[in-house]
Amino acid sequence: MTGTIADVSFGGKSVELPTRSGTIGPDVIDIGTLYKNTGAFTYDPGFTSTASCESKITYIDGDEGVLLHRGYPIEQLAEHGDFLEVCYLLLYGELPTKTQKDDFDYRVTHHTMVHEQMSRFFTGFRRDAHPMAVMCGCVGALSAFYHDSTDITDPHQRMVASLRMIAKMPTIAAMAYKYHIGQPFVYPKNDLDYASNFLRMCFAVPCEDYVVNPVLARAMDRIFILHADHEQNASTSTVRLAGSSGANPFACIAAGIACLWGPAHGGANEAALNMLAEIGSVERIPEYVAKAKDKNDPFRLMGFGHRVYKNYDPRARIMQKTTHEVLGELGIKDDPMLEVAMELERIALTDEYFIEKKLYPNIDFYSGITLKALGFPTTMFTVLFALARTVGWIAQWNEMIEDPEQRIGRPRQLYIGEPKRDYLPVSKR
Ligand code: CMC
Repeated sequence: MTGTIADVSFGGKSVELPTRSGTIGPDVIDIGTLYKNTGAFTYDPGFTSTASCESKITYIDGDEGVLLHRGYPIEQLAEHGDFLEVCYLLLYGELPTKTQKDDFDYRVTHHTMVHEQMSRFFTGFRRDAHPMAVMCGCVGALSAFYHDSTDITDPHQRMVASLRMIAKMPTIAAMAYKYHIGQPFVYPKNDLDYASNFLRMCFAVPCEDYVVNPVLARAMDRIFILHADHEQNASTSTVRLAGSSGANPFACIAAGIACLWGPAHGGANEAALNMLAEIGSVERIPEYVAKAKDKNDPFRLMGFGHRVYKNYDPRARIMQKTTHEVLGELGIKDDPMLEVAMELERIALTDEYFIEKKLYPNIDFYSGITLKALGFPTTMFTVLFALARTVGWIAQWNEMIEDPEQRIGRPRQLYIGEPKRDYLPVSKR
């Protein structure tokens, strides 16, 4: 919706810029004509004040700690829904009816196998390769295996590519894990739900039966729900930017995985758990809190702070509950890491530095402890994030492709290098 006009004057020229309002959230000033009328660009490294697109998928109110998918609060989705239902919601905009849900579950389930030749692709990696490196390679390679779903102008092919990625990501993630630990790959099993199937592909071995624990499967499913989408974060923006050039969907998702790997983004859950292990005991917490507050020390408390949430991350609350359910089910009573985590959270929530800077625990703070209890090594944490976020990336990618205003993303810059100068032959330098 176009609203009022913002007047901007620069360099003796003035321009009237239209503002636009969404259904909720801050209005935006449409600066599309600014350069043409004033000769100036805007400057916003880190995009702290810049909306890069219109979207109907996810809404976050960071001050209030609100996260909505297609309007539904994350708390309700995590409590009552399952991951594939959330996938359907993100992709299609509405919760599915029973028939639609059954059909969607069936289609995802029947796309979970990967081309057999892909298993040989894995063996090209060193056994000690980080599974995220394997994920970047293997997901990018899907475009070399599934030529019939790379035409982005064909809605049917886009839908097939979307289902393929949601379905195959757990299989590829489990294969990356199995390859890493030297165990045979476990094929998907169609009578299991999405999360149970994934746990089985990760933890079953051919020499014994594997019975999925429903409490742990529910926890896994909830972790997937909590990571499914988070509007225009770094990896999602990467997927959109990659897709804006017309790149195929598998290549775009591989780009998102690469971006997610960084410790300031998806790598934070691995970093948070490593940090809790390094702290080791409650007595050492003050030392680390002091380091985090010291301006001359680059150390940060991993799992704290968020670019958008300046309140408790709503996902962290649900994750904290899930952590306790998993530890309870597994009979882990006095986990020293959980003890450190709880005390660290308590101190950070009462410490002036963290209060003033609005640094609350984020989802990664608790997800690492839960994933460790489920049996995953830290190197797999970001892989699981990538698996769950795939649907968000795909929904956002589809939305972008279908947007009639979509153009290639091409930011500008403030050039601070040398002005024009003449080449000197080497003898004169
Ligand atoms: N520990 C100590 N101080 C911190 C922390 C922290 N975790 N996070 C931010 N600060 C301080 C920072 O030093 C700065 O202080 P000052 O204003 O005095 O210079 C102030 O808070 C603002 O920080 P910023 O770096 O300008 O904030 P940002 O919005 O650019 O960064 C962040 C957000 C998430 C990258 C950052 O808080 C961080 O590095 N946190 C630790 C890593 C982490 O947990 N990341 C997961 C994010 S949630 C999942 C996801 O999105 O993938």
